Amino acid sequence: MSRNLQPVTGMKDVLAADIGAWQHVERTMAAVLAAYGYVEIRVPVVEHTELFKRAIGEFTDVVEKEMYTFTDQGGDSLTLRPEATAGIVRAAISNGLLRGARLKVWTQGPMFRHEKPQKGRYRQFTQIDVEAIGFDGPDVDIELIALGARLWKLLGVTRAKLVINSLGTPESRKAYRTLLQDYFRRHIDALDADGRRRLEGNPLRILDSKHPPTQAIVANAPVLTDHLDEESKAHFAQLRAGLDALGIPYTVNPRLVRGLDYYSRTVFEWITDALGSQDAICSGGRYDGLISQLGGEATPAIGFAMGVERVVELTRLAGSLPDPAVPDVFVMAQGEAAQRAALRLAEQLRDAFPGRGVVVHCGSAKFKTQFRRADESGARLAVIVGDDELARGVVALKPLRGAETTQVEYPIAELAARVDEFFRRSK
Ligand code: HAM
Repeated sequence: MSRNLQPVTGMKDVLAADIGAWQHVERTMAAVLAAYGYVEIRVPVVEHTELFKRAIGEFTDVVEKEMYTFTDQGGDSLTLRPEATAGIVRAAISNGLLRGARLKVWTQGPMFRHEKPQKGRYRQFTQIDVEAIGFDGPDVDIELIALGARLWKLLGVTRAKLVINSLGTPESRKAYRTLLQDYFRRHIDALDADGRRRLEGNPLRILDSKHPPTQAIVANAPVLTDHLDEESKAHFAQLRAGLDALGIPYTVNPRLVRGLDYYSRTVFEWITDALGSQDAICSGGRYDGLISQLGGEATPAIGFAMGVERVVELTRLAGSLPDPAVPDVFVMAQGEAAQRAALRLAEQLRDAFPGRGVVVHCGSAKFKTQFRRADESGARLAVIVGDDELARGVVALKPLRGAETTQVEYPIAELAARVDEFFRRSK
């Protein structure tokens, strides 16, 4: 098949067989978010490249090598969003929403990163992103984590584990950064090319290196949690106490630094052992310095994003997906007048039973074929309209599931009442 008929590498279609799982995850999450007081907003998929550079950081993998950046016809450098936080913060600033206000918002949609595709890692992927802006925590930090825990419970996901850490204030992080640079400079021979490059720009990222000799050096590197400022220490202690009080288990990983530069204090990840190497299903943290750094008034904030593809897969593995939606009634017809009547009767049934699924066969076929399709549709009741029956003013009903499947004729005028009777009987 020619290349332009293939999807772009790392980008996937979600087809009918999978959409039920997606909608289940999305609806469950939307309901949980509403229950916690978060309101959906929608922001553009494209922003100025400079926004991501400044928010995410020049020395991150995302900015260095993963962004889909292009120059538009007007000569502006634009980028398909690799994540949603920068765009939401930009929206809060440019719409004048800050001014001491507190915003609890969420958004959902495609993100784009030119990563090496593998199972669970795509170049277009979907996030549900949640942000609490104007809250300095740690109560809101705890609540956001509880929101995640509740989602896993509702989705039947048991294999999600919480990992937390604190990165301290930007100042204590800076002091730690210098300490780390000194340490890694003393072991520069063990660092790979990536590590050496990061040494000047972003030494914290060396901590999650996948290069074995670097990892051996990392094992003895100074630990950030030992170098936190007093306020961050207290914040982190309260976070842990709050999680304990809610009975949410966690582990502290002092090497959890996250791949984006804007974090300070609380960072967390929900990880799973069920999906292979792409184990992070939901990650986030506090970004108290970001808004002022981008030119907005200093506002503390925290958020997280969930990788929907990964959560859908995890939910599927947990076996907790609801049955796929099926129509309630399948209307079949044979003959020109009957086919026209079928459309009219189906509309009457939709008026009478809002929320019920009423499907018309559409197109002519033998009744045998139509019955097969009715059966495949999963509908519980067939409404059968033929030209002869129509001339006699009757339609036939035939239950398709269960023991009783006798076909019975009724006057057309009684259709809605008879269908109602059937629904009540076969509840
Ligand atoms: P992130 O850790 O880069 O954080 O991404 C969040 C989640 O998106 C990950 O835990 C993962 O589930 C999913 N994800 C990331 N990259 C891919 C990929 N290539 N394919 C499939 N899923 C992926 C952020 O994006 C931050 N903006 C989160 C945040 C919000 N922090 C504060 N507020």
